[in-house]
Amino acid sequence: MTGAVRRQMEAPVWAVDAQPLLVAAGIRKSYRRGGLVRRRSFQVLIDAGVELHRGEIVGLVGENGSGKSTLMKILIGSLDRDGGTLTRHGSIGYCPQKPILYERLTPDEHFELFGHAHNLEPAVMESARDEILEILDFTLHRGVRVEELSGGTRAKLNLGLALLADPDILLLDEPYAGFDWDTYLRFWDLTAERRKAGSAVLIVSHFVADEERFDRIVHLEDGRTVAR
Ligand SMILES: Nc1ncnc2c1ncn2[C@@H]1O[C@H](COP(=O)(O)OP(=O)(O)O)[C@@H](O)[C@H]1O
Ligand SMILES: [Mg+2]
Repeated sequence: MTGAVRRQMEAPVWAVDAQPLLVAAGIRKSYRRGGLVRRRSFQVLIDAGVELHRGEIVGLVGENGSGKSTLMKILIGSLDRDGGTLTRHGSIGYCPQKPILYERLTPDEHFELFGHAHNLEPAVMESARDEILEILDFTLHRGVRVEELSGGTRAKLNLGLALLADPDILLLDEPYAGFDWDTYLRFWDLTAERRKAGSAVLIVSHFVADEERFDRIVHLEDGRTVAR
């Protein structure tokens, strides 16, 4: 066997598929500001773009208010864009900056609901759920209603729901704000595993210390994305 053939056989299956999972280009977005009388438009994104490939962790960084969450919402499709193009291949998991949870439901009930929404086989959902509960260390709280959970545990559930269906693309908006140090480290193990399995991960962060954990960093400045 030649070296080239062996390398090809050893390469992960997804390495053969070089097509990006997500491509956004020239994204524009304005919000309306002010009351009914002095309504004016305020442009947050002027020319933003990002390309995500299998097996990479990309950081999205920028100052507070620079439009990172706005861009994430456009990528996930929950917010309309004013212009630009967006193409996606594969399934997507999203961890919003502000957890969107049901106060009256427990983590277990959330997983069940999301499992149904993603059409997961019950056994697949259960094993993914148990792994997430264990790795993020909130098994003890699985039966407690969200209204009684701490901010840290809510953040774990918020992230866990994004991970549940093992999506091809993970969009995580400041997922570890509120995590303790151990959970923060486990978060990075978990992300590294998903990347190895061929997922593309985009993480909004404003910790300079995170920068070495990313394969690539995209800066959002004055409404434009700049690769660094
Ligand atoms: N729904 C909205 N309506 C009006 N302005 C908004 C809305 N959402 C965000 N903004 C404004 O857009 C800017 C970018 O917000 P955001 O995308 O949340 O930034 P980041 O996540 O980088 O902190 C901020 O000035 C924010 O106040
Ligand atoms: Mg934000």
